[in-house]
Amino acid sequence: MKILIINGPNLNLLGKREPEIYGNTTFENFYEQLKIQFPGVEFDYFQSNVEGLLINKLHEVGFMFQGIIFNAGAYTHTSLALADAIAAISTPVIEVHLSNVYAREEIRHNSTIASNCIGSISGFGMRSYELGVLYFTGFHN
Ligand code: DQA
Repeated sequence: MKILIINGPNLNLLGKREPEIYGNTTFENFYEQLKIQFPGVEFDYFQSNVEGLLINKLHEVGFMFQGIIFNAGAYTHTSLALADAIAAISTPVIEVHLSNVYAREEIRHNSTIASNCIGSISGFGMRSYELGVLYFTGFHN
């Protein structure tokens, strides 16, 4: 099975960015471990700070892959275009966040994309992504 992980804006700085909120691990480190943990999964990873490139990537794989795990960063709270892109594709998308967005500022409590995703995982650090993979592998093996 093929799973794409997408990270949106500012998530290229994981490990350096506000470590008290997002932790000390780089995504690349975590990603290497994830591939070892799930040898049966063919992973792809994409990060961009540009909204249109995130949309292009959703379109590119969104009729081929079995699952997409998407941390849209701050676009989560603002982007109708990303919500539309998720609605347009047939691959199921899980919304993930490292931090517990509901324990943070009120502006982060709203997600424009959540209703077009199959579910949301928030607050488990890097393990939020792992939980998403567990969902897809459990339901497709
Ligand atoms: C985030 C939460 C968002 O509110 C924030 O803008 C991010 C990261 C998270 O993973 O916790 O960039 O998506």
